[in-house]
Amino acid sequence: MQLIDQNILLGVTGSIAAYKSVELARSLTEEGANVHAVLTESACRFITPYMFETITGNPACSDLFKEPFSHINLPKEARLLIIAPATANTLNKLACGIADNLLSSIWLAYEGPVIMAPAMNFRMYRHPIVQKQIKALRKLGVQFAGPVTGVLACGEEGKGRMADVSVIHEAAVRSLSVQDLKGQHILVTAGPTREPIDPVRFISNRSSGKMGYAIAAAALRRGADVTLISGPSALRPPDGADFIKVESASAMERAVFDNLRKATAVIMTAAVSDYSSRKIAKVKLKKKDSLSLNLKINTDILKKLGQKKGKRLLVGFAAESGKNIEHAKEKMKKKNLDLIVFNDISQKGAGFDIDTNVITLIGAKGGMKEYPVMSKMDAAGVILDRTGELLKDRK
Ligand code: CTP
Repeated sequence: MQLIDQNILLGVTGSIAAYKSVELARSLTEEGANVHAVLTESACRFITPYMFETITGNPACSDLFKEPFSHINLPKEARLLIIAPATANTLNKLACGIADNLLSSIWLAYEGPVIMAPAMNFRMYRHPIVQKQIKALRKLGVQFAGPVTGVLACGEEGKGRMADVSVIHEAAVRSLSVQDLKGQHILVTAGPTREPIDPVRFISNRSSGKMGYAIAAAALRRGADVTLISGPSALRPPDGADFIKVESASAMERAVFDNLRKATAVIMTAAVSDYSSRKIAKVKLKKKDSLSLNLKINTDILKKLGQKKGKRLLVGFAAESGKNIEHAKEKMKKKNLDLIVFNDISQKGAGFDIDTNVITLIGAKGGMKEYPVMSKMDAAGVILDRTGELLKDRK
């Protein structure tokens, strides 16, 4: 949503990673951005402007002298400048204000946000001159995505690989998002917990973690600091979150309370296991005709948080089979929550391991709103809208 109709200038410089910026142009365009690629002469040795033209539907420029004032007009229209890959040569030049080609001239004429994704050999990257210029560019407000450590095109291994396209894409989305949660620190729990029975078996809940990871990603986009505490999940944590991986409910409880101090809001999406085995076998149990487990109830983390929340905003989830709104309201009261997200898991479009959800938001001070089926990312958006409003009311 943040990229729709946004004019983005994509600067491409001469590195083998230039082929990945074609993919970046594609993913930005697919999300609705209007991408204009600007290639340096060296970039054109690796890829062609025509590739970008085909993908973006816009002319891709490389020649400073082809169209008068293109170095002034292109940046006037742009909301974001991304330089990916950014070579050592270009980084050094930009930091010194040398305007000897279309891209470096655009850089001087442009006044908006800039993201750079360096790509070079690790020795070049760690060279004091390159480091000094990166520091200078940061001071000017440039945001850096990567580089990352890995195998480089030359076959050596080290820090110099261009960041993944998805990471640069996400940085672009964040930079174009309204920063209404800046200054907030949101602690999000996600995924299931696992309660061991023996070294092989465990009790767990159905949960992919998708809802919680979406909330963490959306909060980061809106400028919040985020701590994501997650039970086992196959998902990749969003870049920039303080990520803590846990297994059991008791480990999640510890992690939540260890990280509570700096949080201004806690959003508990985790499907915490209500019970755990009193006895955990040290060796794998042999199969028998029947097995009885002696289970004890786990701490209700959210309830405990409700007793110790102080000024923090507390958001809980109520996954119910059926339209048990009253039960969700009771839960909110019992756990001293400010907001509860009710979802009827029996409804079409809601439930586990899918990308959509059907939610109803219920505020402790009233205000109930039912939403149609929507993507978990959009659901995260409406939950954060309401969380943001409640946080503002507290000031
Ligand atoms: N929760 C928690 N700790 C637990 C169990 C649940 O913090 N041990 C949190 C969940 O993260 C969720 C909320 O409590 O935000 C609601 O969980 P749910 O399982 O729907 O409700 P319960 O309180 O367990 O009640 P019931 O099983 O009767 O619906």
